[in-house]
Amino acid sequence: MPDRFRCEHCRDLLEIIYPGWDDGGPGGLSASSLKKLWGDRRSSLDPVDQSGVWRFREILPGIPQAQIITIKEGNTPVYELPHCAHSAGVAQLFAKHQGMNPTGSFKDTGMTVAASFARQAGYRWVACASTGNTSASMAAYAARGGLHSLVLIPDGKISWSKLSQSLDYGAITCQLKTDFDGCVRVLNEVVERMPVYLLNSVNPYRVEGQKTAAFELLEQFDWQPPDHIIVPGGNLANSSAIGKALREMKQLGFISRLPKISVIQAEGANPLVRTIRENGGEKLIPVHAETMATAIRIGNPASWKKALRVITESEGTVEQVSEIEIAIAKAEIGAEGIGCEPASAVTLAGLKKLVKSGFVKSDESVVLVLTGHLLKDSEFTLKFHRGDLFTDSSQEPEYQGLKANQRAPLILEPSVDAVVNLLKSSEN
Ligand code: F0G
Repeated sequence: MPDRFRCEHCRDLLEIIYPGWDDGGPGGLSASSLKKLWGDRRSSLDPVDQSGVWRFREILPGIPQAQIITIKEGNTPVYELPHCAHSAGVAQLFAKHQGMNPTGSFKDTGMTVAASFARQAGYRWVACASTGNTSASMAAYAARGGLHSLVLIPDGKISWSKLSQSLDYGAITCQLKTDFDGCVRVLNEVVERMPVYLLNSVNPYRVEGQKTAAFELLEQFDWQPPDHIIVPGGNLANSSAIGKALREMKQLGFISRLPKISVIQAEGANPLVRTIRENGGEKLIPVHAETMATAIRIGNPASWKKALRVITESEGTVEQVSEIEIAIAKAEIGAEGIGCEPASAVTLAGLKKLVKSGFVKSDESVVLVLTGHLLKDSEFTLKFHRGDLFTDSSQEPEYQGLKANQRAPLILEPSVDAVVNLLKSSEN
């Protein structure tokens, strides 16, 4: 792990703090003045104000405006999901859809800050190891900022859509015959030997940008915190960022209580769940990760300690979900006309379990953080609806019970009668 992102004494990941905040808030501005300022910037024509990240620049590291690389990230919608609420057993359910960012995932909110910092610091090269979304985002921001980018991804284990993004945005893209954790190991050595700036989520500037999703969410809720926020867990930076944001909002007087932040992992990529359940969070239990939700196919998460702190402080929890539970939840979110990628759907699958266990009460307000767009992994969606997703898998018999959520394409003769008859039979 590159030393520059770790404390030389305790070896934990660095975190950015803002000492000036103790004297009357950022820039001496109170919570109510900041709320007004951020709201007013929504109607500004300045490109930096139009970014849903830099609109909140008072709570971010100071970077000169001329160095900022922005593609108008953030400003993502909150949707109500009434059918998913019913299926999970809660009265009201919301989704903060971070997949509506310019490259289709939440990564853009962190990348704008970290890539801008790289440019300001004079780097010519940036690099990341990725399960596909970080690489797509980094490649885009590097291209916009005139930087070269190097991507290391696990061969055959990321979706084609994500791979195609980094190619199109001009990154040097290497498929390594290993998994994500293996790519991280190689890259950590590369950045020690070459003048390349690492843009993985161990980079604290990434976390700062990702914080803004939580500020924006609370703004969308008129600064009334929901009872629960549910986040997918991979390398565990996003849950850490959202938790840091809420901690800061409380410190600055925006909110008076923290929502419970819970992290959901796939059963086959569950190091945090195991670590908390098996040793109370004492020591990370890395796993050999395997899940079709390839974005979160991570066995050795770098930010596990930060995420653990967030869960503990906010009195949230962890849960794990099966491949079938992920696939059903994804189809249910799609059927609301919204959609997301498989890794995001773990949130709904996890919520169902948290309601069943009584951790989430049916009358509590819940927000799912959807991290990636539906089109990020069309292959998964097509296979699901065609009924091929679990072919050759030991889970196939159970899958037979999923027909209700499948909507396979129909092959018809090119005749009006055939279509009309189909419509008539579909009305019943
Ligand atoms: N959801 C999506 C769609 C992701 O791409 C990722 C991580 C996560 C959730 C998990 O977030 O790592 O902060 O806990 N993707 C990374 C990547 C690792 O390389 O794109 P996390």
